Amino acid sequence: MKDLLETLKGNQPSSTPLWLMRQAGRYLPEYRELRAQKGGFLEMAFDPKAACEVTMQPIRRFGMDGAIIFSDILTIPYALGQGLEFAKGEGPKLPPISTKSEIEALGYDQFDQKMQPVYDAITLTKQQLAAENFDHVTLLGFAGAPWTIATYMIEGGGSKDYINVKTMAYAQPDLFQELINLITEATSRYLINQIKAGADVVKIFDSWAGVLDEDQFKKWAINPVKQIVQAIKSEFPDVPVIGFPRGAGLNYPRYAQETGVDCCAFDSMISLDWIAENLQPICCVQGNLDPAILRAGGECLEQNTKNILKKMAAKPFIFNLGHGINKETPPEHVAQLMRIVKEYKP
Ligand code: CP3
Repeated sequence: MKDLLETLKGNQPSSTPLWLMRQAGRYLPEYRELRAQKGGFLEMAFDPKAACEVTMQPIRRFGMDGAIIFSDILTIPYALGQGLEFAKGEGPKLPPISTKSEIEALGYDQFDQKMQPVYDAITLTKQQLAAENFDHVTLLGFAGAPWTIATYMIEGGGSKDYINVKTMAYAQPDLFQELINLITEATSRYLINQIKAGADVVKIFDSWAGVLDEDQFKKWAINPVKQIVQAIKSEFPDVPVIGFPRGAGLNYPRYAQETGVDCCAFDSMISLDWIAENLQPICCVQGNLDPAILRAGGECLEQNTKNILKKMAAKPFIFNLGHGINKETPPEHVAQLMRIVKEYKP
């Protein structure tokens, strides 16, 4: 039985399902080894066999309930024709765009062809999970939310203050809307194709939703994701969608209600009691152990994990981190976390 999928459909299996954001990655020696062989992150992500192998690594080691396909949210700008590079140790770099003509130069000419390796990796991973008898594992596809993708496209990479993208959203809302519409449409197509390739569930990461004020949150975080959810549901009404508007604070319940996601993931900064009272009655929720606690391990990990379970596990709940796993995390701490969650009895 797939406990993660069941939980997303509103049922409650006997133990809490668990998976971790960035569960495949540099904290695993087997990942670092393959990455060195392949030469880089993008080379690995766009090689279906390598991407499948890396997706399987944490499942083989720890047996999580979910396997998230190894890829990146920045495949969207790349497939729409913007350049993308991962300089070693520096994070993503894109040639920033800012003008109408730069936005209008983006398009679908090579979109399906460039994304094909991602779809192939999903199909291959689905087969591999079955071949290795991981029948309990749910396969997750994912994409970035339009707002977060737009931040990378306009800032040209990560940002501390999001000043360029925010200025554009305020000063040229019509032009910014044009960009958001393009990303929204491309993301709907991308996620629907991931489901066709074999994803059981899809997740939409809005990592930088927390920098938007209330009106902008509605315009750029809620509305586009609502459209994506509608597009998915019109073709696949039974495939669950997880939304993660990281840092949304008081806006979490409104996001869950208005976008129509089946599950809302939440970060580590927010009160568990508040989430239990205000978000969990609306939908299944997923969160929120601070990745630093996982890195710390020991007694601290045990107490915090049990506290989350005590407060959340009585209603549909998926155990996860509040953000991606830190690359210095000892793999034994992940094994310890698995044990605590799986042995927990309410
Ligand atoms: O969760 C998983 O195991 C699946 C794979 C996955 C990656 N990125 C692989 C990756 C997922 C779901 C993502 C999502 C992603 N990518 C987000 C949203 C989630 C979040 O963290 O907020 C964002 C904002 C990105 C953009 C991105 N990709 C950044 C900022 C970086 C550099 C930061 C870093 O950790 O180096 C990446 C690179 C990246 N994506 C790596 C991995 C494993 C590291 C690449 C490497 O050097 O091996």
